Amino acid sequence: MARTHREKAKVAPDDRGVRAAELRELIDYHNERYHALDAPEIPDADYDALVGELKQIEAEHPELVTADSPTQRVGAAPLGLFDEVRHRVPMMSLDNAVTEAELGAWADRLRRQLPDLDVDTLDFSCEPKVDGVAMSLTYVDGRFTQAATRGDGVSGEDVTANVATVGDVPHRLHQAAGPYPRHLEVRGEVYMPTVAFDAMNERQRAAGEREFVNPRNSAAGSLRQKDPTITATRPLAFWAYQIGEIDDVRPEDATGTGSANAWPPVRQSQALELLRAAGLPVSPDARRVTGIPAVFARCAQLAEHRHDFAYEIDGVVVKVDNLTLHDRLGSTSRAPRWAIAFKFPPEERTTRLQRIEVSIGRTGRATPFAVLDPVFVGGSTVALATLHNEDQVALKDVRPGDLVIVRKAGDVIPEVVGPAKNEPGAPKRRKPRWKFPTTCPSCGSPLVRLDGESDTYCTNIDCPAQRVQRIVHFASRSAMDIEGLGDQRVVQLVDAGRITDPADLYDLSADRLAGLEGYAEISVNNLLAAIEGSKTRPLSRLLVALGIRHVGPAVARATARAFGSLEALGNAPLEVLAAVDGVGPVIAGAVAEFLDNPANKVVLVRLGRAGVNTTEQSASPGADAGAGAPDGTLAGKSVVVTGTLEGYTREEAEEAILARGGSSPASVSKKTFAVVVGENPGAAKLTKAEALGVALVDGARFDELLASGSLPS
Ligand code: IVH
Repeated sequence: MARTHREKAKVAPDDRGVRAAELRELIDYHNERYHALDAPEIPDADYDALVGELKQIEAEHPELVTADSPTQRVGAAPLGLFDEVRHRVPMMSLDNAVTEAELGAWADRLRRQLPDLDVDTLDFSCEPKVDGVAMSLTYVDGRFTQAATRGDGVSGEDVTANVATVGDVPHRLHQAAGPYPRHLEVRGEVYMPTVAFDAMNERQRAAGEREFVNPRNSAAGSLRQKDPTITATRPLAFWAYQIGEIDDVRPEDATGTGSANAWPPVRQSQALELLRAAGLPVSPDARRVTGIPAVFARCAQLAEHRHDFAYEIDGVVVKVDNLTLHDRLGSTSRAPRWAIAFKFPPEERTTRLQRIEVSIGRTGRATPFAVLDPVFVGGSTVALATLHNEDQVALKDVRPGDLVIVRKAGDVIPEVVGPAKNEPGAPKRRKPRWKFPTTCPSCGSPLVRLDGESDTYCTNIDCPAQRVQRIVHFASRSAMDIEGLGDQRVVQLVDAGRITDPADLYDLSADRLAGLEGYAEISVNNLLAAIEGSKTRPLSRLLVALGIRHVGPAVARATARAFGSLEALGNAPLEVLAAVDGVGPVIAGAVAEFLDNPANKVVLVRLGRAGVNTTEQSASPGADAGAGAPDGTLAGKSVVVTGTLEGYTREEAEEAILARGGSSPASVSKKTFAVVVGENPGAAKLTKAEALGVALVDGARFDELLASGSLPS
């Protein structure tokens, strides 16, 4: 297997441009793991450090800032499971402050930006920062019509059907606060209360099912279900905290006086009251305070009581209360200047470090990890924690037998901070420093650390531990998705010599599985069927499955779409590959190195021979309409298609509309000319079309619509 990680060592310390490009790729990768896949790989603190390093380089060399840099954007693009919704008002992220000094620096910036005002007498809305999934809800004439995730801030996913099952989300607004705007977009957080989360995991355990990692990830996963009846079984809740788009405030309602029940609100605290009066759940712990010292005090109070909440909070969102100042302060491309998230320090616990072991990953990297006396921290029990690499163990100076501090920085990966030397229970005489092993715990080959690198590797390409990890990754959900092929089965199959690489999976047969423990006829058939089913996955999944460095789902999709087949990708010159949107020279180099490696070539040929699909459908078939192109019957008209149309794939229907000068967005809005309704239409689009009075056209009359450009009578 290619040792692509070595590339890092080639980066000269002063080569800032290359480092910035590498950081951008890394951050994009981790953004996708966190936001789109709900499966972060590194602690928040490490992620923040990458972003911090990139910000620093960009501050020192402004010429290196690119428009698509993650420092200029929010979150990650949606995965494409649901229809796309474009946010008419971008859904931004928030800048963070983790110390009082950083909060103070934000106040200083406000002072500079508002020289005519006394920031010490300004009002602020301090709101608990609930850790869930940001959501945009749209109400048209008081009726719930759409729910969309934040996505990359510009467009998110249409999860209306799923959010409609959340009990806290009213389907109709109350009239109590007087008339509300005809078009009201409410922003807030879908979350899972901790007690409900624990009970749900209890049920999963009892049923022998996989447990959920933490409330945030299980809320995100629950919202990403294709079947809303599954979402309905998940104990989700909602807090509203912000007004997004607000249209059509009737003149008689728009007093602009800021009186408590008048839309549009002129203060954030008033907005929260109006939302509450309209029947939306608003946190009772949101408080309006005056001046920065009072903000500090409220943050400290909430930090002290963070565990008294029925849900996880990871900080306090502080917003300038006066909404007219929001316009004056404006935003950067990523976050508004009128708000800041004061993040609580990560939760820490002490426990005994029993011993340090080393695990071997799919690239051969040897990662030391701590085996701990189990301890409850950050919402789950931790018994193992990564120590990253040899230098980190030395730097932290943690030794077997020590009492150590363990933390989880608001995500799933626990880490050892260092020894708790002065705590009661700390050993009086510590054991000697731990030494990194010189041989691989799996195959006994030498472990190698090259000069200038922090990581140590097992260099034996046939190392069973590496093989296992490569195959586990290949079969994993975001890759070839071979159900029933988890760690334990792969270990068993590798140990029994039945498989050594991913291509061997496709040579498995009932005969080759015979005699293995736990393989009754049914499980043999299920596994073989799952392997067979994986042959039809698109090329983008295969690219992820191969475990090429830096190639996550987004890069894989862009690459697969750009080239259409593995063969075309293999033949593409490096510059062409690097020019693909979202790829760049570092990723292109890694892909090329992987594909050029002789051992990888053999595996790829075998996969192809086994019948594994190596192609991807192009994103825009027939883009070259050329001569004979149809007339512009739909010029300037927006036609939304929902459900299946006879004689057209989704792409062909969209192409047909585009070819006639129209547009075919993924969601219905006031500007939609018509919604074409095929078989099994989406409930959300229909509801919204009805609410907005948009014309519905029977799918069978799509051709008439195309031909005439007017609504069939
Ligand atoms: S305001 C532009 N208010 O924190 C303003 N966000 O790190 C954006 N959050 O994306 C949001 N509680 O998911 C706001 N009271 C609150 C919040 C809150 C939690 C989340 C939200 C946001 C993230 C920013």
